Amino acid sequence: MPPVEIVKDIHWVGAIDWNIRDFHGYSIQQGTTYNAFLVKDEKITLFDTVKRGFEGELLEHISGIVDPASINYLVVNHVEMDHSGLTPEVVDTVKPEKIFCSERGQKALLAHFHRDDWPYEVVKTGDTLSLGKRTVQFIEARMLHWPDSMFSYIPGDGLLISSDAFGQHLATTERFDDDLDLSMILGHAAKYYANIILPYSNLVQKLLGQVKESGLRLDMIAPDHGIIWRTNIGKILECYDEWSRQKTKLKALVIYDTMWHSTEMMARAIVDGLAQEGVSVRLFDLATSHRSDVITEVLDAGALVIGSATLNNGMLPRMADFLHYMKGLRPANKIGAAFGSYGWSGEAVKVINAAMEEMKFTIPDPGITVQYVPVREDLERCRDLGHRVARELKKGK
Ligand code: FEO
Repeated sequence: MPPVEIVKDIHWVGAIDWNIRDFHGYSIQQGTTYNAFLVKDEKITLFDTVKRGFEGELLEHISGIVDPASINYLVVNHVEMDHSGLTPEVVDTVKPEKIFCSERGQKALLAHFHRDDWPYEVVKTGDTLSLGKRTVQFIEARMLHWPDSMFSYIPGDGLLISSDAFGQHLATTERFDDDLDLSMILGHAAKYYANIILPYSNLVQKLLGQVKESGLRLDMIAPDHGIIWRTNIGKILECYDEWSRQKTKLKALVIYDTMWHSTEMMARAIVDGLAQEGVSVRLFDLATSHRSDVITEVLDAGALVIGSATLNNGMLPRMADFLHYMKGLRPANKIGAAFGSYGWSGEAVKVINAAMEEMKFTIPDPGITVQYVPVREDLERCRDLGHRVARELKKGK
């Protein structure tokens, strides 16, 4: 597709990756985009590059606007390879006068590409760069989500080039939020937040506070992935505020992995118990649900009831994978409970409880184990567990 002029003389020149389905463990069923932006001013400036393998698209897009060799400046907002992968090729082609990046950005560029001959220019929050008619203000956004992360703000256009923040993994030919169904885009933005930004929620809160305090005019937020926000800026800021506060709903997830369906029977009885108390419930079998989809639902769930059969004195491997993934994402404000069937030792519930304790979940119940196959009384105990978790959840609402 051709480049897109997002505001006068500022062009999207990125690439669309239609076929990618895995982003280091995050399932992206609708691909993604790598957004890069070209500002045509007295100093022609490229903001970020794209992933290696998409050099044809990036250079073709740039060539449709200017001769790539006429680019003066390269701004590297983020050094992760999906945005910096083509930096060596771009630097060789363009030979920029300067490469602007944060202090951590320079270190990361050196550690990735080992080129100390590049014309680095380290910038920090508050530094400005004149491009001619336009000025760029740099805003360091450390750990959103890498130490090097930085935003670039162009006040004249009210444009915030926001690196990974506010992004979505979504491959489309449309470039703006008002080109597509908003609830669909917000679903992708929530998944992106839950799987990438969640551990840094405190920093998101801080950043949103700074943006509010500074009175920054935001007419457009252009992330490095997915569509650009121009009509629903208030909505995505409100969502980021809500997600970063880790506000939860009267919603529970029952997440399980089962060996011979006993743990599954328990899971369904727990769902009944929770639903009987008026809680909204989602059931996930890890054999059929991807960890990154479950995590998206974790974002606003108030309670997680987690079950696994015991295998070799521990939990089933898919549950270990899920708990490991979730722990890294540091969800907060959760109530947790464990359950599972076993044959002769039954450690899975203990191991799940320990993992939930590590994540600082509130655990109102030691959990339920059932030997081999549950009978009616066992399923009644599971429904009761659902009731107890629901009551604990309702206390805080
Ligand atoms: Fe899209 Fe952190 O890279």
